[in-house]
Order: sequence, then C-alpha cells, then structure tokens
Amino acid sequence: MDPRHQTEFPRGFFSRSDESDDAGFYEFDRFVTHIDDGAIAAVGELYTELGLTGPASGPVLDLCSSWISHFPERPERLVVTGMNANELAANPMADEWSVRDLNVDPGLPFDDGLFAGVTCAVSIDYLTRPLDVCAEVARVLRPGGVFVCTFSNRCFPTKAIRGWLANDDAGRVRIVERYLELTDGLDEPVSAHRNPGAGTDPLFAVWARRL
Ligand SMILES: C[S@@+](CC[C@H](N)C(=O)[O-])C[C@H]1O[C@@H](n2cnc3c(N)ncnc32)[C@H](O)[C@@H]1O
Repeated sequence: MDPRHQTEFPRGFFSRSDESDDAGFYEFDRFVTHIDDGAIAAVGELYTELGLTGPASGPVLDLCSSWISHFPERPERLVVTGMNANELAANPMADEWSVRDLNVDPGLPFDDGLFAGVTCAVSIDYLTRPLDVCAEVARVLRPGGVFVCTFSNRCFPTKAIRGWLANDDAGRVRIVERYLELTDGLDEPVSAHRNPGAGTDPLFAVWARRL
C-alpha cells in the first residue's frame, strides 16, 4: 500500500464502521439510482464536456459501476467494474464487465495507456486504498485522458471511510483533489460544483488529465 495513506491523512481516515468483506455487502442486487435524475443528468453533461461520450470518445473505464453509468450517449467502448455481477451484467452501455473488489486488489487488469477516460461516480468514498487505485488509473489512461470523480451528499455510511463522513461537501472536494494531486502522472485537478438546481441532489466533480 502507498505509505502516503498513513502520512498524508489522519490516523483512522480510511477505516470504516463496517470492516467486513465488501463482497458480503454488495452480494444483494440494488437496482436503484444513488442520485436523482437532475444529478444524473449533470454527471452526463460533464462526461460530454470532457469528451467521454459518442463514437469519437475512445475507450472508457467506469470504476465502481453498477447497472447504470450515466453516459447520455454511449462511448466508443465502455468497460465497467464493480461489486455486483447482476447489476454490472444489466448495464446497457457496457461492452465488457467484471467484478473487482478494489479494496482487496486495487490493480486494474488493463494495458498501460488503454483508456481515454476513467470515471468513478458516487463511489470514491468507499475506497480504502484510493492512492493505489489512482496510481492504476493513471497507468491505464492514455496521455490527455481524463479521470473524473463525481459525488453527491449521500452514501452507505457503514461502508464509507471515516475521513469522508467526518467532512462536509467542501472537505470532500478537497479530499478527492488531494488524491489526484498525490497521483504521479496526473495534471493539476480541476473541481466544480455541477449542481443541477434547487430541489435536486447536489453534484460535485473533481477531474484531472493524464500528462
Ligand atoms: C453508490 S454505488 C454507485 C454505483 C454507480 N457508480 C452509480 O453511479 O450508480 C457504489 C458502488 O461502489 C462500488 N464499490 C463499493 N465498494 C467497492 C470496492 N471495494 N471495490 C470496487 N467497487 C466498490 C459498488 O460497485 C457500488 O455499486
């Protein structure tokens, strides 16, 4: 594990109240949406702005995925990984899917520089070794490719890291910025409120391009 998990973050930051295997928690299918329609549309708009939709996008990897990947238009090719096989198999945009517990093994079984984009929607808070995952993301991104994390203000609290639960929205943006700043090979992160409007879930985004 990258030792900066211990040196850059307070003790206990990556612990969780439920330390049992994530495989057990995600064994049951959840065909639900974790953010509302406005926030889903805001994720999709950002993906389009970043060039991750449509036939010219290049291949895209959606980490911590489920039955929905929020692309308003199918990318050239979409590879998805997550925890629940039934949900991933039902993802209508996915060309390829696999179950991968990134807290057990943060390695990504893909060639260097394969992807034009890597996405992680409303899930970065569940990763207990985020710097190791981010290093792998940087490895599989092609130069100029983008890693984009989006999140709102909801989560499964027993499975989110304590550092996430202890922060407010601004602090969470800063946490994700810090993950990306600490990742070799990524440019300076950009962050934005992509709030779709009053009465909808808030939507925050942090992204960085591969140098
Ligand atoms: C709140 S859901 C979000 C799913 C999807 N990205 C979306 O936007 O609807 C959290 C997802 O994180 C993923 N996840 C949680 N723990 C994980 C782990 N240890 N390794 C890989 N993925 C994990 C699961 O696949 C789960 O579907």
